[in-house]
Amino acid sequence: MRGGEKLQGQVRLEGAKNAVLPILAASLLPQGDTVIRDCPDIRDVHAMAGILQKLGCRCQWEKGVMRIENGGLRHWEMPDELSKQIRSSIFLLGPILGRLRRATVTYPGGCEIGLRPIDLHLKGLRALGVKIVEDGGVIYCDGKNMRSGDVYFDYPSVGATENVMMAAALLPGVTTIHHGAREPEIEDLQNFLNAMGGKVRGAGTQRIEVEGVEKLHGAAYAPIPDRIAAGTLLCAAAVTGGEVELTNIRPWDLIPVTEKLKEMGCSVSEEYGRVLLSAPGRLRAFSCLQTQPHPGFPTDMQAQMLAISCTAEGTSVIVENVFENRLAHVADLCRMGAEIRVSGRTAVVTGVEKLHGMHVTARDLRGGAALVLAALNAQGESVVENAALIDRGYSHLENTLKNLGAQIERIEM
Ligand code: EPZ
Repeated sequence: MRGGEKLQGQVRLEGAKNAVLPILAASLLPQGDTVIRDCPDIRDVHAMAGILQKLGCRCQWEKGVMRIENGGLRHWEMPDELSKQIRSSIFLLGPILGRLRRATVTYPGGCEIGLRPIDLHLKGLRALGVKIVEDGGVIYCDGKNMRSGDVYFDYPSVGATENVMMAAALLPGVTTIHHGAREPEIEDLQNFLNAMGGKVRGAGTQRIEVEGVEKLHGAAYAPIPDRIAAGTLLCAAAVTGGEVELTNIRPWDLIPVTEKLKEMGCSVSEEYGRVLLSAPGRLRAFSCLQTQPHPGFPTDMQAQMLAISCTAEGTSVIVENVFENRLAHVADLCRMGAEIRVSGRTAVVTGVEKLHGMHVTARDLRGGAALVLAALNAQGESVVENAALIDRGYSHLENTLKNLGAQIERIEM
């Protein structure tokens, strides 16, 4: 790819990866089929659908619509090679228990951004009476005495909150989750469960109540748009001095990001379903960015904001509070000429006039997207290797950017 083009144009967002993945897991719960509209064509979604198929379901994705038939669900054991495929496979633990009252999984293992422990998932399920024995990396769950109850999370884990919501959906009585995650994707899971006849309320607040029902029925559902893909595209417009309009987006989901981009000198206009960003010739540094659980600044947008701060005027401080190893993109940004100092989870970026094109490597999903953003306004040619990592969360990112005027091609290495 070659930098220097101002991105201009309009993009319609699709369903959010981090809403679709738990919704796919929850599609195990109903006695009936489910249809997910606006389902993005991304690797993690197809990987999750593949796991559902191995468990006995039928999944078919066509032109943005995923159909799931779960009548064939037989297996409560998730073999190691499936658990390891994607970390989000752990989201299946709750629904398998909810439906079959037993489950065997293995540790999904860490990934590029951290160890990704699942202690909070297991703590939440134990609070619902699940007997859990861990032996040699395999987790045996016996849910025959499962019952509703109170679950308190020391940390508002997104996945652990979703797992408990799904495990409790068919449990007689009311399960209350205290200090759960409050991300928009949690509310979306609540709305999906309720579309299937569930009785969940309070998602988005510190207290979620799940009133178990006898059974759930199938449903057709359109997940919320992808606020992280949206934020990434706004950063692409911002770093190239361009102007981009996003449609099918919920502006309030993007507030932490659009507020930072305004701080950097962008003008952002928002109305229901659309966001328009116009960028200045050169961005100003934001003073400090700290990632936090929602409604704080989203950790999934940290790498992208760090990348565009490299050529902003002034010094920016970024603190990654959520994951312990989510600054791997700094090394390659420095190879492109960025001036960044890292100490622990803190990066201090001194803006330079220009980066130069370079052959760099994506180390994780959002870090890879960040390198593409940096290359969009770097001088000369760049190659971002390991694009498959980017495909985990972005549907044909190179085509989207090309349609906005970027000089970018996918090449087979
Ligand atoms: C979800 O991961 C998202 N993934 C992540 O998006 C996102 O970064 C994260 O939430 C935070 O918003 C999906 O929704 C599929 P957590 P999740 O449990 O559920 C620690 C992306 O780029 N923790 O809220 O795994 C954990 O180590 C991906 O789209 C425990 O200690 O996130 C981390 O430090 C990356 N014990 C912190 O909590 C546990 O049992 C946040 O993790 C669980 C988590």
